Amino acid sequence: MKTYRVGIIGLGRMGSTIDDEGHTPLPYSIAAACRASERLEIAAGCDLRPERREDFSSRWGVRALYEEFTEMVREESPDIVAVCTTASGLQKPAREAPDASFRGDSHAELAVALAELGVPMLYVEKAMASSMAAADDIRDAVSRHGTVFNTGVLRRFDNRYGVVRDAVLRGDVGEPRAAVHYARSSLMHGHIHSIDTLSWLIGDPAITSVRGEIDPRDYVIENDHIPYDPTATYELAFENGVRAWSIPAAGWEYEIIGAEGTIRSLNNGAAASLRKVHDQGGDRKGRSNWDETPFEFVTPRSTVVSCLEDLVDAYETGRKSLGRIEIAHHITEACIAVAESHRRGGAWVDLPLASRDLYIWHV
Ligand SMILES: NC(=O)c1ccc[n+]([C@@H]2O[C@H](COP(=O)([O-])OP(=O)(O)OC[C@H]3O[C@@H](n4cnc5c(N)ncnc54)[C@H](O)[C@@H]3O)[C@@H](O)[C@H]2O)c1
Repeated sequence: MKTYRVGIIGLGRMGSTIDDEGHTPLPYSIAAACRASERLEIAAGCDLRPERREDFSSRWGVRALYEEFTEMVREESPDIVAVCTTASGLQKPAREAPDASFRGDSHAELAVALAELGVPMLYVEKAMASSMAAADDIRDAVSRHGTVFNTGVLRRFDNRYGVVRDAVLRGDVGEPRAAVHYARSSLMHGHIHSIDTLSWLIGDPAITSVRGEIDPRDYVIENDHIPYDPTATYELAFENGVRAWSIPAAGWEYEIIGAEGTIRSLNNGAAASLRKVHDQGGDRKGRSNWDETPFEFVTPRSTVVSCLEDLVDAYETGRKSLGRIEIAHHITEACIAVAESHRRGGAWVDLPLASRDLYIWHV
């Protein structure tokens, strides 16, 4: 079995240290996932900051360290590069753009450059781009070079969401009618996950139109530029007739409501509840309760290992990766369309967006 060599750009939390923070399931950082997988090894690390390179070296015993990513690719020829910089390229704790002309888009710039350099497989942190113009550039470069591509929308690679999706696609709740995401969330950092997961859970039908609003409701977008990552809510219309809503309250949960029942992923994926329509019969015939139905759950596996191994499997077999560029591009477009709808007073906005220039800063 071939082992694939991974170069990591950005040796902070996601690249190296996030396992220290108490999240589950582990391993979570790219480096820890590489150590846990028989298919992967850490080839090299790259960071602008020397102290990050030193910490990475002492944690993982890696000597191949670079300040400049093109040098890393030239010297090490990694099979996979993981882009784990902040999206804007600014160092934390930056929370907004320094001025109205700032359009830093590190994930997109690196993804395009790495595809052009011929790296065969890419993991790119989310959101992959801060504007549709930049998302188009990634799609074009990745398509041109046949780069196998996934992004860090990790519920797509989480087996606890996988069994909920299997149930939906098997018809356990009948024909899906509505989908709901619960939690107050920022648009580009949070809702890129929520829109991706809703789409994934119902089988990735195309999103045809979007409406939404940014909080505060009277926020005015100027010069195609949102200098911070705004809290937002949305409604999505899918091509198969399913409608989806975000509810800005409660913890992170997802629900798919069908003609014959409902399934809800609970407590940020920790459990799931399936309820099915039960006709009460007798003189209450025709009235239905939704009764809790046993649902076999799973032991969680590392989402990052699954995501990186999905890249390898797609590369070896020629099948499409689960978070392939067409899907990542489409979900990014739906996310940015929420802000576009806000700009148009909450009107429904059809995809693809006519305007590609709206930039939304995010971490
Ligand atoms: N998918 C997830 O579950 C998940 C979890 C955590 C973070 N993230 C995402 O990962 C990204 C990084 O977040 P983080 O918390 O790890 O940030 P961080 O600040 O801890 O690390 C980012 C590192 O990137 C380095 N860097 C920036 N630009 C660079 C460049 N051009 N070349 C080399 N190094 C560069 C910085 O010096 C820094 O050390 C963010 O987009 C964040 O949203 C995703």
